[in-house]
Amino acid sequence: MKILFLGDVMGRAGRRAITENLSGLREAWKLDFVVVNGENATSGIGLSGAHAKTLLDAGVDCLTLGDHAFDQKDMLRFIEQEPRIIRPLNFSKTAPGKGARLFTSKNGRKVLVTQILGQVFMKRPFDDPFSAVEPVLKTHPLGGMAQAVIVDMHCEATSEKMAMGHFCDGRASLVVGTHTHVPTADAMVLPGGTAYLTDAGMCGDYNSVIGMEKTEPMRRFITGMPRDRFTPANGEATLSGVYVETDDRTGRAKRIAMVRNGGLLQAAKP
Ligand SMILES: [Fe+2]
Ligand SMILES: [Fe+2]
Repeated sequence: MKILFLGDVMGRAGRRAITENLSGLREAWKLDFVVVNGENATSGIGLSGAHAKTLLDAGVDCLTLGDHAFDQKDMLRFIEQEPRIIRPLNFSKTAPGKGARLFTSKNGRKVLVTQILGQVFMKRPFDDPFSAVEPVLKTHPLGGMAQAVIVDMHCEATSEKMAMGHFCDGRASLVVGTHTHVPTADAMVLPGGTAYLTDAGMCGDYNSVIGMEKTEPMRRFITGMPRDRFTPANGEATLSGVYVETDDRTGRAKRIAMVRNGGLLQAAKP
């Protein structure tokens, strides 16, 4: 399978980059399945139902969320009607929606997508991500029930993400980090056959501070005092993420490549 995973969509600039480019990339790269992290697509905080629909209509097969999952209140209801949206597995026990789901790709392959929140440097003490993901991996063996397994590890610390990569090695096709909005350069296939990247980066305007218009964040760093609200930067966005080719029989990764398209970041194609 040819899979594309794109990092956190940031505001209008990120949405525009998806709606303008994704269907062309899907065709050019012959993609079988596209996962996009949508946790910041609405004004940088959360994802509204309307914007989820925009992204899904643009060619996204599955949207993942993150710590901002329900910052747009209508997502509390929308997620129950839209099975293509996945929230973190270890979010509050009372959270609506699902943290893992088996999808069927357009050509009939089964793809499991799950998302987990890390604990290190995160604002809320979420449940242990390792024990949360274990039963999901056990019930969806790679090369058995699922032709591909995709794990979105949403957290701050590179160490925790790498540990999760090794924890899932041989049991997932791809473990990819999200949340920091800055892509890392460590795309690799781990010894057990799991493709891994510490962070996918964001789909947003990189002339910013992690996607926010830079004036206010810089003011807060420099003076320690807030004045205005944060608003997403609105220049041309870079689509940033990772491309993976998997073996249908084993579900393991044959190849991984970083992807960057448009905007300020240096371009990279699969
Ligand atoms: Fe994010
Ligand atoms: Fe996040």
